Amino acid sequence: MTYKNFKLRTDDHGITWIGIDVAGENVNTMGTPVLHELNTLLDDFEKNPPKAVAFYSEKKSGFIAGANVNEFVEIGKTNNLDEAEALVKRGYDVYERLANAKYPTLALINGYALGGGLELALACRYRVAVDEPSTRLGLPEVMLGILPGWGGVKRLPQLVGAPAAMDFLLTGKTADAKKAKRLGMVDEAVPPRIMWNTAIGVLKALPPPRRLSFAQNLMTNGFLRGYVAKQARKQVAKRARPEHYPSPYAIIDLWQKYNGDIHKPQPRESCSVRTLISHPTAMNLIRVFGLREKLKAQAKGIDFAAKHVHVIGAGVMGGDIAAWCALRGIHVTLQDLDATRIAPAIKRAADMYKKRLRDDRKIRDAMDRLQPDTTGDGAKKADVIIEAIVENLSVKQKVFAELEAKARPDAILATNTSSIPLEQIATALNDPSRLVGIHFFNPVAQMMLVEIISGVQTNADVAKRATAFVDQIDKLPLACKSAPGFWVNRILAPYLGEAMRCLDEGIAPETIDEAALAFGMPMGPIELADVVGLDVCAAVGQTVTPDATAPQKLQAKLDAKQFGKKTGNGFYVWTDGRAQKSSAGAVPAGLTDRLIAPMLIEASKARAEGVVSDDDLADAGAIFGCGFAPFRGGPLNYQTMR
Ligand code: NAI
Repeated sequence: MTYKNFKLRTDDHGITWIGIDVAGENVNTMGTPVLHELNTLLDDFEKNPPKAVAFYSEKKSGFIAGANVNEFVEIGKTNNLDEAEALVKRGYDVYERLANAKYPTLALINGYALGGGLELALACRYRVAVDEPSTRLGLPEVMLGILPGWGGVKRLPQLVGAPAAMDFLLTGKTADAKKAKRLGMVDEAVPPRIMWNTAIGVLKALPPPRRLSFAQNLMTNGFLRGYVAKQARKQVAKRARPEHYPSPYAIIDLWQKYNGDIHKPQPRESCSVRTLISHPTAMNLIRVFGLREKLKAQAKGIDFAAKHVHVIGAGVMGGDIAAWCALRGIHVTLQDLDATRIAPAIKRAADMYKKRLRDDRKIRDAMDRLQPDTTGDGAKKADVIIEAIVENLSVKQKVFAELEAKARPDAILATNTSSIPLEQIATALNDPSRLVGIHFFNPVAQMMLVEIISGVQTNADVAKRATAFVDQIDKLPLACKSAPGFWVNRILAPYLGEAMRCLDEGIAPETIDEAALAFGMPMGPIELADVVGLDVCAAVGQTVTPDATAPQKLQAKLDAKQFGKKTGNGFYVWTDGRAQKSSAGAVPAGLTDRLIAPMLIEASKARAEGVVSDDDLADAGAIFGCGFAPFRGGPLNYQTMR
């Protein structure tokens, strides 16, 4: 038999290898046609049972990335709940068949196995994970507001025990091969060179499937099950309100009441597919998934990759931008006025690499890629040059005039300015069209969004290459016009300004923050202002609304040089990196709307002015750049849904 999405061959051991190779795609996803074909394949195996079966991926991009989320995006547009339910049940049934196969089955996981991809592996009798950096196993459905409906809720707890499984199911986090092996999610974690032989060895030896320890069994199948569910609910409640994020609660219910069987809940029950998928949260989060892809798609087809980046200014931003680029495999030179100004940035980089890479060799390699450069010679060879020095027009102009003389003619000249119009900086250049803004957010390592700013003078090709560069370093590019505040600060400033006016009226900072949290913001505006820095907030406010007088309490803090988290004192007192807060008390009626309204109004205005070119990108920018409650789908979407 031949199949469109699977390549079959039987080896000398009698093992039938199934190479998953979804037709016409770079990445394997389990879309409806693929599921149908898997079902046909299982029919064929029923008629002619193989001795043993091993799934692996024929794609370089990984094992299987999950279900085809685009199908959900389409369902979201038409709100076809019958189709949503049918899609989930179909997957559940096909995987159930696979799990009940009489012949031994194995998944050889090379690269990521996420969502419906991991669920396929979980439905096999054995799993071998290839220990390489790209291998990640996880069930991220909760991040889309849905649940792992293809058997993940049922099977993962049986492999790793309910408490560990809940940790994965309720956060969407992933494990590498070694961790997956330690937990029992896979039977073996092996280096690539022995992966095939290991899979053959397992299918020849047919070891008894792994069993849970006595304690794990009590918590998963015994009388401690209810206790585990209760603890899990408590943990979730600390992070997510059920009215905003119903899916983690639904996952716990589906496991506790129905052992993950998606057919069992009644349509109106909170853990049914129908209820979850019709909730605005799922629809919005699925849309946000699409928006993230849309941001990335801006870089598609642009033939540019930086090998060497030169960063000027090793302060808060420049230091972290340099460290991030080196983390992403690029050779970086970091320039500042003298070595003592560069040293703290190198130390911060070392700390970040230790946390993120956790492997001495990889840490050393990343550190080797990050070179201090007091002479600025690195600028001569770089493909991308990013200026991140003090926010001062004449100093920036001087730096760019010198840079243009020594940079390669094809090098991208970029500024990280947050407020100076590009056109003004560009006057220092013989060829002003070379200047583009690559505007990172603070903290660089955590903020996904990077604005690509085009002034009227910016060459479109330069902006394109800047977009490809941002994608290369795994950030999300957003094309913006060089207008005051660009997109993110433009809509953030009126929101923070309103919060500060509330402070001046005597409302407690904790109450103001609570009102924003109730809307679904990840952090309240007063705390956010302290984190960003009150000096920075004041400067941004000046740029976006030059005529407005600074709020009184903000001015008092500025006069006292209390700039927020970085000085240990702002609207809050900060100890050990945390704001010291009192109880928020009751949020007065209307406060939430009052805070959010200025942001919504500004978003509509800026969009109408064409600061960002379409509504989707505008919403994406607000979500990934300002933390706008993702389940509300962004400020423009939210206004149409209200
Ligand atoms: P910073 O004050 O922490 O660092 C600036 C660095 O530039 C200092 O180390 C200084 O010694 C160095 N420098 C000054 N003149 C120089 C020259 N001629 N040659 C080489 N190095 C020189 O400033 P920060 O906060 O990192 O900001 C840098 C730029 O990034 C500014 O344009 C700012 O508007 C922008 N930005 C800042 C954000 C923030 O949250 N701090 C966020 C996004 C953008």
